[in-house]
Formats: sequence, C-alpha cells, structure tokens
Amino acid sequence: MSVRETMTAAYITRPGPADEIRIGRLPVPEPGPSEVLVKVRALAVNHVDTFVRSGAYRTPLPYPFVIGRDLVGTVATAAPGFAPGDPVWCDSLGFDGRQGAFSEYAAVPADRLYHLPRGVDPENAVASLHTAATAYLGLFREAGLRIGETVVVTGAGGGVGSATVQLAAAYGARVIATARPDDFDWCRRCGADEVVDYHDPDMYPKIAELAPNGVNVFWDNAGHYHLERTVPLLALGGRMIIAAGLGATPALPVGELYTRDASLRGFAISNATVAELTAAATAINHLLARGALVSRIGTRLPLTEAARSHRLQEGAEPHSPRGRIVVLP
Ligand SMILES: NC(=O)c1ccc[n+]([C@@H]2O[C@H](COP(=O)([O-])OP(=O)(O)OC[C@H]3O[C@@H](n4cnc5c(N)ncnc54)[C@H](OP(=O)(O)O)[C@@H]3O)[C@@H](O)[C@H]2O)c1
Repeated sequence: MSVRETMTAAYITRPGPADEIRIGRLPVPEPGPSEVLVKVRALAVNHVDTFVRSGAYRTPLPYPFVIGRDLVGTVATAAPGFAPGDPVWCDSLGFDGRQGAFSEYAAVPADRLYHLPRGVDPENAVASLHTAATAYLGLFREAGLRIGETVVVTGAGGGVGSATVQLAAAYGARVIATARPDDFDWCRRCGADEVVDYHDPDMYPKIAELAPNGVNVFWDNAGHYHLERTVPLLALGGRMIIAAGLGATPALPVGELYTRDASLRGFAISNATVAELTAAATAINHLLARGALVSRIGTRLPLTEAARSHRLQEGAEPHSPRGRIVVLP
C-alpha cells in the first residue's frame, strides 16, 4: 500500500468537545516493522474515548489524532503471524502516543493485535472488547476472583457491568446485579443469580440479605461510591473494585474496611501491559468463540457520524439510546 493513498478518518487537531471531531482524508498509515496494516470493519465507542478526546484523561496524542481505541477488521497486508484477510481485533489504540482506530485502515502493533475466532460476529465482538477486557482485569488481576465467591456488580445493565456479570458467572461466581427494572431480564441473561433495583431505598439491606456471608467482590460501575453503605457489606478479605468516577471524592469508613481485611483496588485498563491485555484477549476469544460473551448494541452509525457517536456516548443528545454504540466505516 502506497503512502500516497488516502482514507476517510475521524480525527481531532486539539482536545475539546465532540464538535472538534473532523471527518476528512488522511494518508493510509504505512505500517512499521512491528505493525500490521488492518482494514477496519467495525468500531466501538466507550467512555474513555470521550475522556481522551476532551482532554479529561491526559495522554500524549499525535495530531491529527484519529479518535477511538477498539476495532475489528481484517489483515490488509501480510505480516509475520498474520495473513491477508485474517479477521483480527485490537482494544488498545489511541492512547500513550498510539494513533486511534476511527479510520478505514489502522497500523496496529503486532503484539496488540489478536485473531478473531472464525464465525464471530464483528459487531458483537467490537462492542464487547473494552468492557470485557476491563471486566477480566478487575475480576482476575485485581480481585483474584475465586470460584463460588459472591460478586456484586452495580450498573449491571451497562457495558462493563454486563461484561463483568458474564465473566464472573462463566467462572462460577455467584452474581448479584443491580440495575433498573428494564434491565433485569438482560442481567439474568448475562448470568446474574439475583437482580436488585438500584432505585430501591432498601437496596443495601437487600444485598446484605442475599449475601449472608458477605460480599467477596463489590464493583460499582456508576462511580458514586456510597462506601459507608457498601464497605460494611464486604466479607472478611473482601475486595472493592474502583474503576469509575473520575471526580468522585467519597468518605471512607476506615474501621469498617480494615477490620475486615478488606481492600480497595483501583485500576485503569489504559495502564495494562501488553502481556496483561494478551491474557484478557485469550479469555475474550474463548468466550466469543462459544457465544458466551454478548453485548446489547443500541445504535449503529457510519464513520462520518463519529461526532454524533461521541455526543450519544456522553448523553449530550436527547433520547440517547441505551446499549452499545457501534460505528461502521
Ligand atoms: N477503569 C477502567 O479501566 C475503566 C474501563 C472501562 C470503563 N470504565 C468506567 O466504568 C464506568 C462504566 O462504564 P460502562 O461502559 O459500563 O458505562 P455504561 O454502559 O454507561 O453503564 C453505566 C451503568 O451505570 C448505571 N447507573 C447509572 N446510575 C446508577 C446508579 N445510581 N446506581 C447504579 N447504577 C447506575 C447505568 O444504568 P442506567 O442505564 O439505568 O442509567 C448503566 O447501566 C464508566 O464510568 C467508565 O468510564 C473504567
């Protein structure tokens, strides 16, 4: 592929609101010796994409910066381990100096590119990558989840929440989900054993009743952190996953935490090493190949509507649909 060829891309030239996203022609990237040129088939939008675009989450960006992190595509030119036409995916573009995904072609570092199992739907896959990799790191690297433990997932109707329910249930944990009543069926289909309405003023006593031996892992996806209510729910050695709520400053009931030998485990997937992402990818491919990792897709948009995809993700347009947003080049 010649560097003179151009492609459609969604990019920014400085951080800012979604209206900063431009649609234009950029050169098709020339893959370096350790990169693979990928023809993009499907893209997903996640909260982190909007944080990087706006500058809320600071990271070095090469301008013009192609937005986005996750893609599913096919190998465009042969590279070691990759043949033209191979279905592939990546969930770690667009951060720490790497160009993003929202374009017709992307040059992907070979060690961040994984084969997509044959027959897997690219749209379901792309909608599941970021959320499931986050769920994997939180449940297994951070919480050290064990079979039979009780996991509480709040915001279980959302992307990370529903992926966390699916991974925890597939691993053999007992899962208590919180969600709005509209999402109860979805949470149960994901594998939740119990579902509690997060609007219910008695939500915490209900969780305590459902987990009489305490909660081993508590993951708050809404980022509100009512720690005075949730830390006392933890079992001895309980782990609370902190992965949402960029600006949250909750009060911590210290005695309730340390007398349980409990811990708060904060993490951001953006800091994960290549080896950790590869381990997550192995789990994701295992589940995708068995039809055991499913996302609800609420909206499909063309690449030319990338700015709208970010506005929808930010809830900035009326009637923002629930379910994941997939963008198609
Ligand atoms: N640290 C990391 O590595 C990492 C990685 C990925 C995501 N995240 C963060 O994780 C969070 C979740 O991401 P996501 O993609 O799953 O977002 P999402 O799809 O928007 O889901 C958020 C969920 O939270 C629910 N919710 C809202 N208010 C709630 C409340 N008061 N109590 C309980 N649940 C409530 C929402 O339910 P309704 O639909 O009923 O409003 C929705 O189901 C975001 O803050 C994101 O930035 C962090």
